[in-house]
Amino acid sequence: MTDEKKKLTTASGKPYTEHENSQTVGPRGPILLQDFVLHEKMAHFNRERIPERVVHAKGSGAYGTFTVTHDITQYTKAKVFNEIGKQTKTFLRFSTVGGEKGSADTERDPRGFALKFYTEDGNWDLVGNNTPVFFIKDPKKFSDFIHTQKRDPRTNTKSATMMWDFWSLNPESLHQIMILFSDRGTPYSYRHMHGFGSHTFSMINAENERVFVKFHFKTRQKIKNFTDAEAGRMKGMDADWAQRDLVEAIDNGDFPKWDLKIQVMTEEETQAFRWNPFDVTKIWPQSEFPLIDVGVLELNEIPNNFFAHVEQAAFGPSHVVDGIGYSPDKMLQGRLLSYPDAQRYRLGANYEQLTVNRCPYATNNYQRDGAMRYDGNGEDAPNYFPNSFDNIEVDQSYKEPSENMYSLVADWYDRNGENENDHYTQAGNLFRKVFNDEERTTQVNNFLGSLKNVSGPKREQILNRQLCHFFRADPELGARIAQGLGIHIDQGMFAHKA
Ligand code: HEM
Repeated sequence: MTDEKKKLTTASGKPYTEHENSQTVGPRGPILLQDFVLHEKMAHFNRERIPERVVHAKGSGAYGTFTVTHDITQYTKAKVFNEIGKQTKTFLRFSTVGGEKGSADTERDPRGFALKFYTEDGNWDLVGNNTPVFFIKDPKKFSDFIHTQKRDPRTNTKSATMMWDFWSLNPESLHQIMILFSDRGTPYSYRHMHGFGSHTFSMINAENERVFVKFHFKTRQKIKNFTDAEAGRMKGMDADWAQRDLVEAIDNGDFPKWDLKIQVMTEEETQAFRWNPFDVTKIWPQSEFPLIDVGVLELNEIPNNFFAHVEQAAFGPSHVVDGIGYSPDKMLQGRLLSYPDAQRYRLGANYEQLTVNRCPYATNNYQRDGAMRYDGNGEDAPNYFPNSFDNIEVDQSYKEPSENMYSLVADWYDRNGENENDHYTQAGNLFRKVFNDEERTTQVNNFLGSLKNVSGPKREQILNRQLCHFFRADPELGARIAQGLGIHIDQGMFAHKA
């Protein structure tokens, strides 16, 4: 802020004096209708809230810098990666998923990790989470799933019954809930967790060759989590714990950093992989597809206005840039439509012009008008293409290579049909091989803490159905949860069809 004195004005720029007292007939009389400053003040205040994000409503954001440390130009021609040492401005928004804008930062929930790179070929958004997998694998199921994470329509409270009913009926969720109910479901702060692109994306190099990739951001702050009890206590003590942690660290010059790494699969390898490589409920084992170093992300600036930059930020997995492409991951495909649609509703048709969303390089197109268009609207330039007047050209060097679809038969294929129904191997490996004894016990206790709240006439059915999934992932996991719930295991239960 400068020391230069400024005049107090109305929104239309008229300097005025009476900011604190309304105009009345006599010192104790009624207010006059002509006190426009009063109307403007009240009316604008009434319109301060915009719709919160339908998911990921509670979040925190910061600007930063991405620096390339390793050469991956053999995989991609994306300009953001074209030179070691190259720096690109970024904006990252962290979030929880299910809670409202005022909910607690330490809820058991995945954490959003949405990153915008302001590249010279347009903004690239990588809109991921702190987990490498997700609960569902078909976008048609997203709204049903999210309803179970929000409030019960009658009690208006969160409902373990809804959650476990859904998860037990959708066994593809098992891998993600194994992570969610470990202490990784309650990270200590946003700085102390990894980020993942989660979906499979593609990369295209200068020879127009395509590979498939997964993105990993490894925290340099080290993983640090709350226990279930600590997270619960923090909800009451400081609902904005993670926001405060991020602001304080960056304001103190303690800039958090993440190492970006990728996994790469060739097109031939995608055909031979034993799981569907485009199924977001599965990981690619790092023993087979090792992490490749790319660069480092640093967050170094808290925006000076939360609403302008963080609340109005709009990320879309559809925003890729030359050299980075989509994949046949069905969830990714669904998200390509969903995010810009949500943002046209939440922020308006011209949301891409807002400071945080605007491409700082050139945008040249024939989109015109619409509510809150404030960038000059193309001024007097032609508003149609092709035309004989302007110098905007289609640059053919940006053309994407064609894609192999491997099938010509359209159908509503069962998402969990043959070869798509191993929900258990990777989930079981996590329990057996990744977690240690202490982590296994924590996880069982966290599961029990939630499962005990399942209630109502379908309680037994829901618990038994979920128990079958736990048993199929790992017999020890199943047995410990059955014991904790006081459920006697009979052979009939195993006959239940998943
Ligand atoms: C088909 C599945 C999905 C649908 C339809 C969906 C839809 C949405 C919608 C509508 C929003 C709000 C956007 C806004 O108002 O700006 C959102 C936010 C978000 N979603 Fe999803 N989502 C899906 C799956 C996923 C997955 C798999 C991930 C992570 C791997 C994810 C991560 C996020 C994040 C991080 C945000 C917050 C972005 C921000 O900070 O502004 N979503 N999602």
